[in-house]
Amino acid sequence: KPPVRIAPSLLAADFACLGDEARAVAAAGADWLHLDVMDGHFVPNISFGPVVVKALRRHLAIPFDVHLMIAPADPYLAAFAEAGADTISLHAEAGPHLHRSLQAIRALGKRAGVVLNPATPVSAVENVLDLCDLILVMSVNPGFGGQGFIDSQLGKIAALRRMIDAHAAAGGQPIDLEVDGGVTAETAPRCIAAGADVLVAGTAVFGKPDYREAIQALRPKVMA
Ligand code: DX5
Ligand code: ZN
Repeated sequence: KPPVRIAPSLLAADFACLGDEARAVAAAGADWLHLDVMDGHFVPNISFGPVVVKALRRHLAIPFDVHLMIAPADPYLAAFAEAGADTISLHAEAGPHLHRSLQAIRALGKRAGVVLNPATPVSAVENVLDLCDLILVMSVNPGFGGQGFIDSQLGKIAALRRMIDAHAAAGGQPIDLEVDGGVTAETAPRCIAAGADVLVAGTAVFGKPDYREAIQALRPKVMA
């Protein structure tokens, strides 16, 4: 089983010095950088687009985990690929043809991810597993950082873990299982126990004075 990876979400960083903030979490041991793209339409908030992703790419070598909270997403996939995304994830509800969107991301040479809102059932990904490199479970309603973890999503994480393991056992490709929203030192162990292997954290990293300590606090504890 691969180790748990931590993906700090830049949404909680100081937007007046994004480059410094991104470099700081990378130096502090972040495995991936999580980039939240919001359009004020699919979610009730606006963040940043491909121009910002591209500008940051020149400063960092760690994988860019781009979370698209935009609809439609299809017209922008190429722009995010060109901007330097490694994984591009879109919501199951972002368009009428999820299978085609995932194919498009793969055709751009990028890893493809599907995001499930708190109300979205696991069955939304069941028939596109072969095109998924990542499944992202939202443990808050998307749009804002700093919200409380929705406990009911733990059962969904466990169900997806079983689905992903069965897929791999049948010869399918590996799929990362990521959790986003309200991840803290308290909720992280519960996500990991349920089967998550990538944790997104905004406030729990950028809201702390010591980024290295904050990232470390989210990793599984090694028993002495
Ligand atoms: C919410 C975003 C999250 C957000 C998480 O719509 O997708 O990535 O930054 O923030 P925290 O960790 O503060 O809940
Ligand atoms: Zn996110």
